[in-house]
Amino acid sequence: MQQQKVRRGANCGTGPDARETLDSRKGILLDDLDRMPFEEASPQAEPDGHAAAPAAKRVFIKTFGCQMNVYDSERMSEMLAAEGYVETDAPDEADLAILNTCHIREKAAEKVYSDLGRLRDIKSARAEGGKETLITVAGCVAQAEGEEIVRRAPAVDLVLGSQSYHRLPELLSRLRGGETALVETAFPDEDKFQALPERASAKAVTAFLTVQEGCDKFCTFCVVPYTRGMEYSRPVAALVDEARRLVQRGVRDITLLGQNVNGYHGEGPDGAPTTLAGLIGQLAGIEGLLRIRYTTSHPRDMSEALIEAHAREDKLMPYLHLPFQAGADRVLAAMNRKHTAADYLALIARIRRARPDIALSTDIIVGFPGESDADFEATLALVREAEFAHAFSFKYSPRPGTPAATMDGQVPEEVKRERLERLQEVIDAGYRRFNGACVGKRLPVLFEKAGRHAGQLVGRSPYLQLVHADADPALIGRVIDVEIRAAGANSLSGAICGQS
Ligand code: 5AD
Ligand code: SF4
Repeated sequence: MQQQKVRRGANCGTGPDARETLDSRKGILLDDLDRMPFEEASPQAEPDGHAAAPAAKRVFIKTFGCQMNVYDSERMSEMLAAEGYVETDAPDEADLAILNTCHIREKAAEKVYSDLGRLRDIKSARAEGGKETLITVAGCVAQAEGEEIVRRAPAVDLVLGSQSYHRLPELLSRLRGGETALVETAFPDEDKFQALPERASAKAVTAFLTVQEGCDKFCTFCVVPYTRGMEYSRPVAALVDEARRLVQRGVRDITLLGQNVNGYHGEGPDGAPTTLAGLIGQLAGIEGLLRIRYTTSHPRDMSEALIEAHAREDKLMPYLHLPFQAGADRVLAAMNRKHTAADYLALIARIRRARPDIALSTDIIVGFPGESDADFEATLALVREAEFAHAFSFKYSPRPGTPAATMDGQVPEEVKRERLERLQEVIDAGYRRFNGACVGKRLPVLFEKAGRHAGQLVGRSPYLQLVHADADPALIGRVIDVEIRAAGANSLSGAICGQS
């Protein structure tokens, strides 16, 4: 990957993308959204105030990867709405096509090039009809591969790194002025968050809010510190302001995002750094905001204050995504994780003492270089002991420029595949246990939208489970107790309490 100028103080973004497992709202491969039981991660539909007038320019945005990319796509969509664009989900209608990309595993990065092949054909077909199509590659592949993208895919007009979205309108007008193949991947000195226009289009009950970007942890398998830069935390005042506006627009559940979100240390109202626990405390004061979540955390940054916040703060939901990556200490050391399996287990025991019902989820990599059968067994043992409600599991994917890519002992693909299958069986059994244990309980559900069947609404439990129940649409945006009657593989269903 190319060397980046890392801007002072910060920025980078959360991890995951092409997940091997399909699961909750954490992340990944948004291609899979049509198979997923929720929609809030999809790009925004038509932005406020821009009904699809025939003359409007159309933008197609496809988002790969983690929730941070979802957030970035939403912000780009809002910015383009101000330029007169409306969103379309038909790439052949688009005057502007944006792929917001993920580089975390090879599969996700390569998918971008196959999509670019399709967009190139659309661009030629539209050109024959006299229509222009500008193709933009944004996000982490853009950041990591820069110029290489226009060499490999010459139909691309703009390569836009993840710190430069706010410059999109200016760059588009330069393209219209005749410039070609623009590559903008610097980490500029201005803060992209300040430069972005005010949030305009949030319509949903849930929203993401990026509070921190980048990562200084340098796990040896991970590309994030190179694509998203060093850690940067947004100031508390800006976040409280953005959260308030989201709540005014009807958002009731905000998920705070960061590659290393529990390392948050943004400037507080008094000018001193504030911890994530401090930020959550400030956000909890916003009237109308009912639920707060955060992701993704590193075990080393799980402070006592944050654990304590789980015990004390009602609005902070009892759900924690805490990747452990591998169960064998020698693999953890080679990964540069700076914690052992015993440290991890002790940590989750402390968290469960503070908040006994907390649902834990995690990320796990199989087939890291040098991982033996015994090392893999240690991973299985940790999964069984920790009793996760969710887990995302991945085959190790060597990423160019990261230390692990050139380590000895690369594990054959076939072995990785077998290990992943075995691991997923254990994970799935845990998932079924966790959901099954909810049957017969009353769970407070925040209803988000209409379900697939007439009369049905869909919402989320505090543990991020999807819950279906027959209910009046007037209950969307409210938290209502639901008696859980059945647990499926991906969701629960039940009846609103007080109704039969
Ligand atoms: N190969 C496989 N999985 C990876 N992840 C990060 N980098 C890689 C890689 N090179 C996984 C980690 C991380 C999640 C977001 O993606 O488990 O927590
Ligand atoms: Fe990547 Fe490790 Fe940072 Fe997570 S903590 S973003 S895995 S370097």
